[in-house]
Amino acid sequence: MSHPLRVFSGMRPTGKLHLGHVLGALNNWVEMQKTYQCIFGVVDWHALTTEYENVGDISGNVVEVAIDWLAAGIDPEKSTLIIQSLVPEHAELHLLFSMIIPMPWLERVPTYKEQQKQLQGKDLSTYGFLGYPLLQAADILVYRANAVPVGEDQLPHIELTREVARRFNFLYGEVFPEPQSVLTEVPNLPGTDGRKMSKSYNNSIMLCDSPGETGSKVLKMMTDPARVRRHDPGNPEVCPAFTYHRVFTEGEKLPEIEQGCRTAGIGCTDCKKILVQSMQRFMEPIYGRRQSWEGRRSEVLDLLVEGSRKARALAEETMAEVRQKMHIHYGR
Ligand code: TRP
Ligand code: SF4
Repeated sequence: MSHPLRVFSGMRPTGKLHLGHVLGALNNWVEMQKTYQCIFGVVDWHALTTEYENVGDISGNVVEVAIDWLAAGIDPEKSTLIIQSLVPEHAELHLLFSMIIPMPWLERVPTYKEQQKQLQGKDLSTYGFLGYPLLQAADILVYRANAVPVGEDQLPHIELTREVARRFNFLYGEVFPEPQSVLTEVPNLPGTDGRKMSKSYNNSIMLCDSPGETGSKVLKMMTDPARVRRHDPGNPEVCPAFTYHRVFTEGEKLPEIEQGCRTAGIGCTDCKKILVQSMQRFMEPIYGRRQSWEGRRSEVLDLLVEGSRKARALAEETMAEVRQKMHIHYGR
């Protein structure tokens, strides 16, 4: 394979990751490492679009996110791990794209108004926040990535990326492939209280949780609220613990658990004890890898710096072509 297809994806450094990130993204990334040339970026500039008043956490969070990637099975021998701001070509390409993208393309991206509404405590009437998806387009196109693994919420951003690639190619000549989004088909994993899993709700199972912590979170997890007493039959369809069983417990055990629940043959505590075992089996290798990287933070940072250096060489190749096509290369 002389020209393997290239993949780029990124995450903002917002802190430690939870199980939702593994199922929603990282498992897919780990899988893609086998067949693609993957570049994964901790996108610190993207974090600034909403956290510009609160920059203290960003650099620490960059390393936390990278450790969680490694814990989830991202292999730095196979994939290139970068910090966005260490590859300034992302910013240069973003600037050049800003010359050719009509404002309405950015204003109509659905996440723009939604996020502004959701994060009302923050002043997001900034230039940088409007440009968020264009910076994302630059992340992807600076490596001429062919595929981008993302969650459903990101589809409009990938569509915009394709439109920007087309517009550039039309104006200056063919440089960029149009990247495909690769959707992660995820069973949506709720938080332990049945709401959306989110660190801010304190209902998440974190990758850094020990098997013991995972176990106690699972045992406290919400169940079918209508099942009050042991002899009440339950309904697995409305039980967050059963959603977890579907993901983590071997398929052949599920009918028995389901039947046990509906007939009150099994109690919630016993049901969740089975789940604890399934989850610990899943989490153990993740936890082990996390423990081992945790003590080697400076190595993790070195790895990101080295990855960024390698990625920069690829980004430079693209930018040389871009500058030439736009007649701003001055013999470089
Ligand atoms: N916007 C993405 C998110 O919030 C993060 C991101 C930034 C990204 N640049 C990217 C994802 C490039 C894929 C490709 O999840
Ligand atoms: Fe949920 Fe299991 Fe209790 Fe049924 S028995 S309500 S599936 S925890």
